[in-house]
Amino acid sequence: MDVFLTGSTGFLGGEILMDLTNRKEVGKIFCLVRAKTQQEAVERVKKVFFLHGDHFDENRIIPIAGDLSEDKLTEELIANKALETIETIVHSAANTSFSKIFDTMVKDVNIAGLQRILKWSATLKSLKTFVYVGTATICGKNILNRTVLEEESPDVNAEHVVSYTYTKMTGEQVLHEFLREEQILVVRPSIIMGDSRPWAPRSTVILWTLATVNLLRLVPVNPLAQLDIISVDFASQAIVELLFAKRKHQVYHISSGQAGATNALKITGAIEPHFNHRPPFKFVNTSHVKQMVAWAKNHPPKPGDELEGNTAHLNYWNDIFESRGRLRILLFALEPYLEFMELGQIFDNSKLIEDTGIKQPLPAHEYIKNSIKYLEKIDVFEGAVDP
Ligand SMILES: NC(=O)c1ccc[n+]([C@@H]2O[C@H](COP(=O)([O-])OP(=O)(O)OC[C@H]3O[C@@H](n4cnc5c(N)ncnc54)[C@H](OP(=O)(O)O)[C@@H]3O)[C@@H](O)[C@H]2O)c1
Repeated sequence: MDVFLTGSTGFLGGEILMDLTNRKEVGKIFCLVRAKTQQEAVERVKKVFFLHGDHFDENRIIPIAGDLSEDKLTEELIANKALETIETIVHSAANTSFSKIFDTMVKDVNIAGLQRILKWSATLKSLKTFVYVGTATICGKNILNRTVLEEESPDVNAEHVVSYTYTKMTGEQVLHEFLREEQILVVRPSIIMGDSRPWAPRSTVILWTLATVNLLRLVPVNPLAQLDIISVDFASQAIVELLFAKRKHQVYHISSGQAGATNALKITGAIEPHFNHRPPFKFVNTSHVKQMVAWAKNHPPKPGDELEGNTAHLNYWNDIFESRGRLRILLFALEPYLEFMELGQIFDNSKLIEDTGIKQPLPAHEYIKNSIKYLEKIDVFEGAVDP
């Protein structure tokens, strides 16, 4: 079967591309890529293969230059005769920014861009499956400290930490306007961080959070709040297995579930012995965030502020940051991630495990050891301004 994949230059999409390439059931893979020219599109996809020395077969992998945020995309795809026999679409592309300044772009790519793809999809006579890569965090911030089931979302009344999850929720609803029910497969990864194999992850996006926490050492989050974190290789394997599995459901969490759950204490405990030159991790209440921001704005802690009791860490910050403005940049970017970490949400993965037969994933505090040397290389300031 021929597949059309979006987001192949991204963290998860790149891994999905590799896993699809390794399946004998898959014929050609057409990859929608942002590029000014066809040649640039080819070069970008080649890079995805070359990262870990995979073979790029130009007869099988067909990059297509196109942009989800452009209205002409639908017409361009309809006009492309080579795409008429597509049986499977995997839509992994999205704008995943948590920053408010990108809200308009996030909406345009994740909702209008999806609609542009769907309008074309609806014209395909052979289309059997449209895989929509959503996110488990569409359940919103009102669910606290418990396991979440697939059926609980989408919930139009859910309150969202960031617009991104709202757009991903809306995306799920939009699918039904264009596709037949049997064509829809929604996969909802939880939090994808790093790779469980001992090599460079395709992206350091969520690892950035850990690198930042690792630098700050004073961490304003509940260390015991449960976290549902998976590696990119597990996420991709699960999605591709589901595509070929005998599925009993339309929606699946791609997640650690209770069996592979972790927390901030376990993850920092796993990396701590590798960074002895830094002060020990200290977890403090989230109420410290405001006080930290005030300190970063050069306001001294007020009498009675809890932050006052952390002079060792404040002195350490004075030593490592050229200016407090640098700390402010980090805190600003970190805040939404801290909010997610505080929710204590675990996403039930029993449907995924049952229908694919794959093994439960390793907990993040176990596989993260393979990413330690990459963690050290992350420029946290660069990551903070380019989320
Ligand atoms: N990472 C996670 O923790 C996580 C968790 C749950 C769900 N997800 C979902 O998983 C999917 C993949 O996420 P990811 O982590 O792989 O994100 P990513 O690394 O940021 O990749 C996003 C991909 O989308 C493409 N894209 C963005 N805007 C586009 C546009 N206007 N036109 C065409 N392509 C565009 C990017 O292309 P460029 O290379 O040109 O930028 C890139 O290939 C998303 O749907 C996301 O919502 C991710």
